[in-house]
Amino acid sequence: MLRLSHRVPTLLAAALFAACGEGSTVPDDDHHHVPKAEPPKEQPPKEQPPKEEPPPEPPPRIEGIPYLVDENIDPRIVEVSLVAKASSLAIADGPETDLWTYNDSLPGPLIHARVGDRVIVHFDNQLADPTVVHWHGLRISDQMDGSPRIQSPVAPGGSFTYDFIVPDAGTFWYHTHFNQIEQFERGLYGALVVHERDEPKFTSERVIVIDDIRLDSDNQIAPFLTSGPDIGAGRVGNTLLANGKAEPLRTVLPRGGIERWRVILANNALTMGLRLKGAQTRVIATDGGLLPSPLEADRVEIAPGQRYDFEVRAGEGESEVTLEALIFVIENDQVVEKPFPLAIARVEGDVAQPEPKYPEVILPAVNVAATEVAWKLAATNAGGKVEFTINGQSGYVDGHEHPLLGTFPSNEPVRIRISSSVSPAHPFHIHGQFFQIVERGGKPVTDEPGLRDTVAIRGAESASVLTYFENPGRWMVHCHISEHSEKGMMAEVVVTDSGAGSSSSSSSGGGHSH
Ligand code: C2O
Ligand code: CU
Repeated sequence: MLRLSHRVPTLLAAALFAACGEGSTVPDDDHHHVPKAEPPKEQPPKEQPPKEEPPPEPPPRIEGIPYLVDENIDPRIVEVSLVAKASSLAIADGPETDLWTYNDSLPGPLIHARVGDRVIVHFDNQLADPTVVHWHGLRISDQMDGSPRIQSPVAPGGSFTYDFIVPDAGTFWYHTHFNQIEQFERGLYGALVVHERDEPKFTSERVIVIDDIRLDSDNQIAPFLTSGPDIGAGRVGNTLLANGKAEPLRTVLPRGGIERWRVILANNALTMGLRLKGAQTRVIATDGGLLPSPLEADRVEIAPGQRYDFEVRAGEGESEVTLEALIFVIENDQVVEKPFPLAIARVEGDVAQPEPKYPEVILPAVNVAATEVAWKLAATNAGGKVEFTINGQSGYVDGHEHPLLGTFPSNEPVRIRISSSVSPAHPFHIHGQFFQIVERGGKPVTDEPGLRDTVAIRGAESASVLTYFENPGRWMVHCHISEHSEKGMMAEVVVTDSGAGSSSSSSSGGGHSH
């Protein structure tokens, strides 16, 4: 019998979900699902440190996902091997699930570095299908971005070396960018953390990667549907995963402790709420790194591709802190929002943790005269053939021809009004750039601060983002619902090097190079 406790229901219609029925009881025994992390990268031998500058401290340990071993002794270079392959893993009670993974791990192993480090990833494709690796949120060269338009996918048996400097600190992730509907669902994603140079100190740092996967009764990936709600709203799973397990993560949080929880939503399609219960919590970072000041909020909406970092302490008199996903389900013919636990920390022990010191962060100005553009998301259904479009054009349908949405000089402010005439929420992503959300439905936005690379455009709503297009290159822009991007909601922009490292660029770069 499969454990239903942590399963979320299969999608019935766009944005509506069938009831789980069995409730969502939390097992009270300790399952110890936190995989043992390998030790952080080696220290250089004693006699080698350069005279002028002491070698940087190794980045802090992050709990939750095994690390990729750094094979390079240079403390400023992280050099790792990443292999895409078929693996069978125990993710839910019952039989193992046949997956496609990076290094036999779901999520893929954690890659972490300090801002300014060089990261070299020797990638091997041992799958029977072509694939590429995209570094979501990293403002690196477009040649290393894993865009199938620029890099031909790595053939089965082939390899490719990604080599880049990580320019910004933050919680990022990597994932396949080829045949994404299937490759995502089968497990090709992992976490990438870039530490600030003067990173605030916490009792512990954790990373929690959320996914929802659709398993059949033998725990195998359920068939991919090519029509109906799976295309309309994207594939929604029936099993919620936290760091690759259908059971919530179990940890311990000492009273007085202050932790950093880095949360990544790595699913195909479903936007959800995130709430911390029993905690005193603040949002300290978004997609693009630390906020200028922490945001008091114990609940946020997270769309596929987005990240949030929370500062977490146990609430007064609480014995447990729980991170919950809030998901709409149908129960007794009613649409209700239900909580599903992702991580449960028992409050135990005592520590005296000094308040973390957050570095100064200055975001680029948003109240500026900017070039205005409009991107309209829509869908057509001609004789049962669904196509998704941006400004009336469909990309990705035949190969990788992406319509060009515009050419922009770097470091100039552009206000992009993204609107949608079709539900559900479209998590819209721009490669290689950050932006800020400035307007929703005609009203200024004040409760979604920070730099982002992905914004939820809710059905029949518009939102405006302001970007400085700081990173020259040819960049994909698309809905992060795999079923939408692969069926046309995909285009590109070209950012030309204006040569002007404007003040906006240096303030943003400076603000995030901690
Ligand atoms: Cu995370 Cu083009 O995507
Ligand atoms: Cu979409």
